[in-house]
Amino acid sequence: MLHWNVIKTKTPEEAGKLAADQFEAVLRAKPACVIGLATGSTPLPLYRELIAREQRGELDFSRVRSANLDEYKGLAPDHPQSYRRFMQENLFDHISIRPENTIVPDGLAEDVDAMCRAYERRIEDWGGVDIQLLGIGHDGHIGFNEPCDDFPAWTHEVALTEMTRRANQRFFASLDEVPTAAFTMGIGTVMAAKKIVMMVTGKDKAEILYKAFCGPVTPKVPASILQFHPDVTLICDEAAATLLPGK
Ligand code: PGA
Repeated sequence: MLHWNVIKTKTPEEAGKLAADQFEAVLRAKPACVIGLATGSTPLPLYRELIAREQRGELDFSRVRSANLDEYKGLAPDHPQSYRRFMQENLFDHISIRPENTIVPDGLAEDVDAMCRAYERRIEDWGGVDIQLLGIGHDGHIGFNEPCDDFPAWTHEVALTEMTRRANQRFFASLDEVPTAAFTMGIGTVMAAKKIVMMVTGKDKAEILYKAFCGPVTPKVPASILQFHPDVTLICDEAAATLLPGK
């Protein structure tokens, strides 16, 4: 660990503002930057803040390109629980980013390998991700890279763990409706980002954050690989930070 830049905040809202500062710095330096985006509850305060900043004229997304971490397998882009729809509703529909400049893995891809290769190629053609947003799952996943025996390199299909499906059940009518598989950027894709911002809020994430941050680097805790990334900023609220050193 130890070279991570750790910012502790009082509330998730404040975490959103501080994460927005990180994105704003990159956007100002490079108006056509490539941003890597995440779904889930944690990034919502960040997305609200980015929308507000563009509405106030402080940010301009018209030249930005974005690549999302993951998508459920089998969900159409307009499915209420698809990550494409989540991104439209919580960010893209409210900022000036051009639709053709936003990519999310295709949940309905028939040729999975071709879709995954094309996803990687698009990011590469854009020159790579300048700033990647991450959350962390209770099992240490980043994107949908679940604990396993080695670090999967590139965009690929994964089976979702029971823990992840249960954590995400809150968005679906029942556990049965939660997809059992997903497409996700790989650990290699994430590690290739020039800068990483991880947002973690809530007491329920304290233990896994400690393991990722202070434990051994192991694919059993996929987020632990970030200990080897040269530019990680961790933004966490006090509840998530309770086990971290310096508290
Ligand atoms: P959450 O998801 O922000 O909804 O807790 C994080 C994740 O699973 O990566």
